[in-house]
Amino acid sequence: MTTWYDHAIIYQIYPKSFQDSNGDGVGDLNGIRARIPYIQALGVNAVWLNPIFTSPQVDNGYDVANYYAVDPQMGTMADMEALLAAFHAAGIHVILDFVLNHTSDQHPWFLDAVSSKDSLYRDYYIFAGQNGRRPNNWGSFFGGSVWAPDPAGSGQSYFHLFDRRMPDLNWANPEVRHAMQDVADFWLQKGVDGLRLDAFIHIAKASLDQDWPTAAGDDAPVVAEPFFANRPQVQDWLRPFCQHVKADYPDAMLLGEAASASVDLAAAYTAADNHLMDSVVTFRYFTEQAPAKAKLPAAYQPREMDWLAFKQGQATWQQTLQAPPTLYWSNHDMARLATRVAHGPVQARSLALLMYLQRGIPIIYYGEELGLENLALPDAAAFGDATVTDFLQQAKAAGVDDRQALAWVNATHKLPARGPMPWGDSVGGGGTAASGVTGAAGSPSQPAGTEPPTAAAARLRATAGFTTGTPWLDGTAQATATAAAQDVDPTSSLHFYRELIALKKRPLFAAGDYHLLSTSDNLYAYRRTLADSQALVVVNLGATPATLEAGLSGMTRRLTAGKVTRHGDHLTLAPYAGVVLTTHQD
Ligand code: NOJ
Repeated sequence: MTTWYDHAIIYQIYPKSFQDSNGDGVGDLNGIRARIPYIQALGVNAVWLNPIFTSPQVDNGYDVANYYAVDPQMGTMADMEALLAAFHAAGIHVILDFVLNHTSDQHPWFLDAVSSKDSLYRDYYIFAGQNGRRPNNWGSFFGGSVWAPDPAGSGQSYFHLFDRRMPDLNWANPEVRHAMQDVADFWLQKGVDGLRLDAFIHIAKASLDQDWPTAAGDDAPVVAEPFFANRPQVQDWLRPFCQHVKADYPDAMLLGEAASASVDLAAAYTAADNHLMDSVVTFRYFTEQAPAKAKLPAAYQPREMDWLAFKQGQATWQQTLQAPPTLYWSNHDMARLATRVAHGPVQARSLALLMYLQRGIPIIYYGEELGLENLALPDAAAFGDATVTDFLQQAKAAGVDDRQALAWVNATHKLPARGPMPWGDSVGGGGTAASGVTGAAGSPSQPAGTEPPTAAAARLRATAGFTTGTPWLDGTAQATATAAAQDVDPTSSLHFYRELIALKKRPLFAAGDYHLLSTSDNLYAYRRTLADSQALVVVNLGATPATLEAGLSGMTRRLTAGKVTRHGDHLTLAPYAGVVLTTHQD
């Protein structure tokens, strides 16, 4: 049986940064609704919204305090219902981020759990240890130990894989599993079309009474993933959840975030007879080369892609998974494509072409279609992340210039990848074809009478139509042509993405087989075939021209990034260029 999500083309929206409709500097649901015509014109058939639930925003919504309510900064439940209806009217499916591994420490369950050791909710979370001693040496993804002291002073500690204000739920407790099922039911009943299962691979933990082995005397916390990632119970506990969802909502898409899953595990998570996910997002696509400064942490040093590893990885994922693989270049957890990988706009386009015409489900991170880059945040404090402060100190000690080190962090950290969408027009009246909005949905963002019109206009320009207020994230945007400007420029990145998405919808790219071509190192080339139809996708990954000889007879060029010339069966691609050809009828 084929469902809509077998051919999903997903646009990822980070709600806080997409469109503010009330001038508070934070994007919201009415803002998103006002931009549906833009999303529709892009050609995608689904959106994934990062979390929109009530949250103290310690981790921008991944710390949920109430799964049944919309965060007041985002809007109201009525706004959410209107947004869902408007997306559906536009033929666009809506996938919600479903945060199931942890809650906020402000969630009523946790508040109750720490009110007394006898709380009925105590076993909703993971408490262990005594006399204030941490039960083991496991380290949190966000730095430090996974253990934090029970605020009630019991001497026990509670477990948190992420921030200490995000306690992990105890999925070993059937009540937790039922409670999360209820949350899923609530939203599916409201009409959402899918759930992105956040960090699902971490819901099961090994026995807590064991340290990760370290050298004698080293008691620093260790991110001991084998103790808390991809453990067998993950599948046992999620299968009933997934089966329950599918029984009542067979068309609901279950998209799992499986950051560290190997291709074999991803295959298991998505095998039809395993009754779990429909597709998973891995973080294993992007192997990078060794950093320039071996003694400094690699994570904050910009590094070139290891293209050989990339090609090997893509070919493996393409041909191992029976379910459609996800296809993406960036998301809210990594630096943007244009900053992290591409050497300029030609390569950004050819890499998009390379990735999205493969077998699978494109997930396009908002702004990528414009060639948007990371913001430049002004200083260490703006990151609110101790690992950044540490890195900058270490870099200084290693003799790296302060500004250089900050530029490295800006080019590699996830936060600058979450900048405001540069619309270039406003949602409240005066909208252009790019927004497609003439004030129909969402309200004008300028609070009446608070500012003289000229000052408001200047601020509007400065924030590129995202907000009339001060954007929640303080940073300088690189010069990227706005959506409004790109909408009227047929040579723009936006037009390129629209053409690419239109191509992706053709049966050949939606359902064809994938076959890797043997080429020189600097080329990535593959064919897609479906019955008599055939496509050839060729991308030059390198900084020097490259040539390919391939059977091109009867093939027509469909989309090109950069300069590509063809003589008979020979293609010559300028540095970083890419091209797609198909048999004429396709
Ligand atoms: C994965 C999300 O993508 C990330 O942004 C978040 O910090 C963690 N899960 C915790 O929810």
